[in-house]
Amino acid sequence: MKNQEIKFKNNHSKYSILIGSNVLPALPKRIKILCPKTKKIAVIIDKNVPRKFKNILKNILKNFKIIFFSYQASEKKKSFNDVNKFLTKLLSNNFNRSDLIIGVGGGITGDLSGFVASIFKRGINFINIPTTLLAQVDSSIGGKTGVNTSHGKNLVGSFYQPKLVLSDTNFLNSLSKKEIVCGYAEILKHAIIKDPNFFSWLERNTEKILLKKPGELTYAIKKSCLIKLHFVNKDVNEKGIRMALNFGHTFAHAIEVKNNYSKKISHGEAVLAGIILESKMSVLKKICNIKIFNRIESVYKKNNLTYTYKKFLNANRIKSLIPFLKNDKKNNDEKINFILLKDLGKTTKPNNFKFSIKNLNNLSKFIAQF
Ligand SMILES: NC(=O)c1ccc[n+]([C@@H]2O[C@H](COP(=O)([O-])OP(=O)(O)OC[C@H]3O[C@@H](n4cnc5c(N)ncnc54)[C@H](O)[C@@H]3O)[C@@H](O)[C@H]2O)c1
Repeated sequence: MKNQEIKFKNNHSKYSILIGSNVLPALPKRIKILCPKTKKIAVIIDKNVPRKFKNILKNILKNFKIIFFSYQASEKKKSFNDVNKFLTKLLSNNFNRSDLIIGVGGGITGDLSGFVASIFKRGINFINIPTTLLAQVDSSIGGKTGVNTSHGKNLVGSFYQPKLVLSDTNFLNSLSKKEIVCGYAEILKHAIIKDPNFFSWLERNTEKILLKKPGELTYAIKKSCLIKLHFVNKDVNEKGIRMALNFGHTFAHAIEVKNNYSKKISHGEAVLAGIILESKMSVLKKICNIKIFNRIESVYKKNNLTYTYKKFLNANRIKSLIPFLKNDKKNNDEKINFILLKDLGKTTKPNNFKFSIKNLNNLSKFIAQF
């Protein structure tokens, strides 16, 4: 599949998403058009991005004054402290608003560098170059930026749109299988909540995505971005429709918190488990046909992904997650609010399915026996 461009536009912003293998060389030309006054570029680059990409960037951006800030991305270092360090470096290098920050890395680097860009002199040009599958299909889209605090993850941030998102699938070659699965979980969720045809395509092509075939990756990234844009564009402030994106995430969040965000279970693996648990709930509540669940489950079976939910075939294991469901930010009363599945491409509305703790405890054994 040849390189793709999504041209996004709404009342507040306008930017392109370039997707494909080897789209990186398009960068200098785009900068000239989008940020014609830029003289200096600060590249905040994840240390784990292979060195050859730094050399390519150095080479293609040689007509600018370019400074690399390498960043050891971790949830711990997605912090005010690091934001402050980068702000200080920008100030001491006399950056001004017409200059440019480029974030090169996964979701952590994108969130942090977008946040730095949004507050530096009240907003400097920002380009996002996501280098993980999760960042290419999810976190680089929608304009959410931010950092963690000692009170929790992503609690401080801003909405700030980039001038350009450039998703080159060549970056994904050095990613581990676990990281690819992480991004795939969001791709699968996007297909399930919005696009039955894309889901059918995933039934046939998941293996190729997991094997990092560039053509299939380009198609899946494009589809995923379009679906995420559909939701965030309708609902920029995260209420209402955007909550469909939380499908699978209520349980996923509980799994991650219960495991103390251990690296043993990645976010994507928790989401894959959450998709199964919440699909089972949808069938048990008689709003979704079991045939839909069977189709979803068979994608896992065909692609060795059942390990993500095996643990939760046990009622006590599911029950042990319930206390961690409580603090989910979507809940505005004592009950737990779930987005459930009605059909491929259709979810329930927020606040239509709320469960008390007692209800959930009773339901656990049926989910496990399912
Ligand atoms: N802004 C949003 O809307 C949004 C949405 C979802 C997630 N997020 C955030 O995204 C973050 C997770 O993103 P992520 O999964 O990309 O994590 P990440 O940024 O930690 O990257 C995952 C790992 O891959 C490494 N890495 C990055 N690119 C690489 C490459 N090309 N080759 C080899 N290794 C590479 C990183 O150093 C890291 O170890 C979380 O902090 C989450 O809060 C934000």
